[in-house]
Amino acid sequence: MKSQEGKYTTIHYQKYLKIEELLSAQVLRSEQVGDPAHEEMLFIIVHQVYELWFKQIIHELESVIRFFDDNEVVETSLSVAIGRLNRTEEILQLLVKQIGIMETMTPLDFLDFRNYLFPASGFQSFQFRVIECLLGLPEDQRLTYYGQKYSSVFTEDKQKTLDDIYAKGTLLDTVNAWLERTPFLELDGFNFLGEYKKALTKMLEKETKAIMESEYLTDKEKKMRSEMVGGTDTYFRSILDEETHNKLMAEGKKRLSYKATLAALFINLYREEPILQLPFQFITCLIDIDNEVTNWRYRHAQMVLRMIGHKTGTGGSSGHEYLAKTAMMHQIFTDFHGISSLLIPRSELPILPEGIRAQLNFKFNA
Ligand code: HEM
Repeated sequence: MKSQEGKYTTIHYQKYLKIEELLSAQVLRSEQVGDPAHEEMLFIIVHQVYELWFKQIIHELESVIRFFDDNEVVETSLSVAIGRLNRTEEILQLLVKQIGIMETMTPLDFLDFRNYLFPASGFQSFQFRVIECLLGLPEDQRLTYYGQKYSSVFTEDKQKTLDDIYAKGTLLDTVNAWLERTPFLELDGFNFLGEYKKALTKMLEKETKAIMESEYLTDKEKKMRSEMVGGTDTYFRSILDEETHNKLMAEGKKRLSYKATLAALFINLYREEPILQLPFQFITCLIDIDNEVTNWRYRHAQMVLRMIGHKTGTGGSSGHEYLAKTAMMHQIFTDFHGISSLLIPRSELPILPEGIRAQLNFKFNA
């Protein structure tokens, strides 16, 4: 095929951006039924702008997942992926902020045209569901209403597209597989888990000693606090036990495999080592995106409470109550948040053998 490099073409702004098509897509239901409501224009435009941004988010997420397709992620791909996830997060922040614009419409204004919208609802936003699926929200952990599957509001073709996303592998799946490939957990006689457990025991022993020797605590307080340290110890050990982990996975309480969790812990603990900086940033992006989607869910739920109180939604859910629950329950990368409870101070970290440290540095041969 002939290369297009260096070729210039010309086009008019209006035509390139299909401005006319775009601006003819705001059709007010209230006008159609002969009862024009001023605020409906805002309602339509805000939703349409959301859908445009959803399209961009999908474009970014799909491309990031593709980087992992061939089971290998080179450093350049990882930095491009980080750039695209950062962009996704920025867009999500904007989407959270946009709710403020929607709220300039009062609940009474909304009632002027709400009756003309049944049963249209954000439930039927296909792109929103695509985003949830691409990120990896597990199907069996979604809230349902009246026992209906979330995708039942779509045509069969669209339902299949959603099923295919899970079949091909979500961002959560690909990140899990990528973490499992982390090669540094058992290298050159260095057993990360063994060393980490020893460091943990030492840290907890020091904490207990400090409590027992404190001049400021009574005997009763000392007993109580050292029991609390014992509780922490049990907690750590249960988390670090493979069998317990697999059981929690089977119950849907953990999503990353045991091996992937240890790799994420390793990356978090030794994130200052040059080779681990990008993986750490990548994990941070996933946490940020999850947080931003959750922020949107909370903000949207609060806005809904303000607009319609405790009425049921046009889509037939319990409205605010359903939405507030999704904010808690539809988080995706929860295992990464959990890693923070496994962190130990830098001063207690097992020292990496020189051989491993050398491998974690960028190699440069002049
Ligand atoms: C006056 C403004 C709004 C009201 C009163 C409202 C109300 C609701 C309600 C009650 C639901 C629950 C489903 C149902 O029973 O209908 C819902 C879901 C949803 N809404 Fe809105 N909404 C508003 C604005 C928006 C905007 C601007 C968007 C942006 C696209 C949006 C996107 C969604 C999405 C994606 C869902 C599904 C959430 C899920 O199932 O997790 N909504 N909305």
